[in-house]
Amino acid sequence: MTYPKVRMQSGQFLQCWIGLLKFKPDKIIGHVEAHNVDFAYPARPDVFKGFSIIIGAGKSTALVGPSGSGKSTIIGLIERFYDPFRGIVKIDGLDIRSYNLRSLRKHIGLVSQEPTLFSGTVRQNITDGTSDNVDETELIEAAKAANAHNFIVGLENGYDTWCGDRGLHLSGGQKQRIAIARAILKNPSVVGVNAIEYPSNVDHFIRLKEICNLV
Ligand SMILES: Nc1ncnc2c1ncn2[C@@H]1O[C@H](COP(=O)(O)OP(=O)(O)OP(=O)(O)O)[C@@H](O)[C@H]1O
Ligand SMILES: [Mg+2]
Repeated sequence: MTYPKVRMQSGQFLQCWIGLLKFKPDKIIGHVEAHNVDFAYPARPDVFKGFSIIIGAGKSTALVGPSGSGKSTIIGLIERFYDPFRGIVKIDGLDIRSYNLRSLRKHIGLVSQEPTLFSGTVRQNITDGTSDNVDETELIEAAKAANAHNFIVGLENGYDTWCGDRGLHLSGGQKQRIAIARAILKNPSVVGVNAIEYPSNVDHFIRLKEICNLV
């Protein structure tokens, strides 16, 4: 059988080489800085102008603001889902564009605003992303730290309960706790929890404090 030849354009070839040459750190400390960042979506031309923030390594920093103010976008810029039009985002003092993308994301644990669980057991949903076989004690410790262990052991089959599309229906908060346990188990240097709405009522405020204590 013959296959059509796929020719690489010179630009793509160069990009591959540049990708290989990028920095692949074994470890990052997790000091995040954004300086004078301008960013816009095509349909929303003015999300940030001259935005700056410093998130110290090992610190829990909450991004609080009204809906649409750009909290998720900041997480997206740190994960390099998008690049700023102007300004710079740095991790450990280095422009994040200098890092190999896969390597950078290995060090970042993101808990999205509305995490979806894949079809599989609770255990599989927590251990996703960790390369080695996970020790049961480590798994339970991560779930406890994420405040998820108590509700998990209360499920019909505990950690072996099936979840996902056709499985168990968990509340948004429970899914988020599983996602936080997953992020903790991955042991990244930067954890982004994209969960915060403007704390206009007491429940939101308590939730906000809870999340900040967790990560
Ligand atoms: N993919 C996109 N394309 C176009 N506009 C977008 C996109 N994502 C977000 N926006 C717009 O950019 C602005 C910032 O959005 P973002 O999601 O960062 O806000 P947020 O603070 O996380 O809001 P929420 O608290 O509701 O999650 C909003 O006006 C939003 O409508
Ligand atoms: Mg958001």
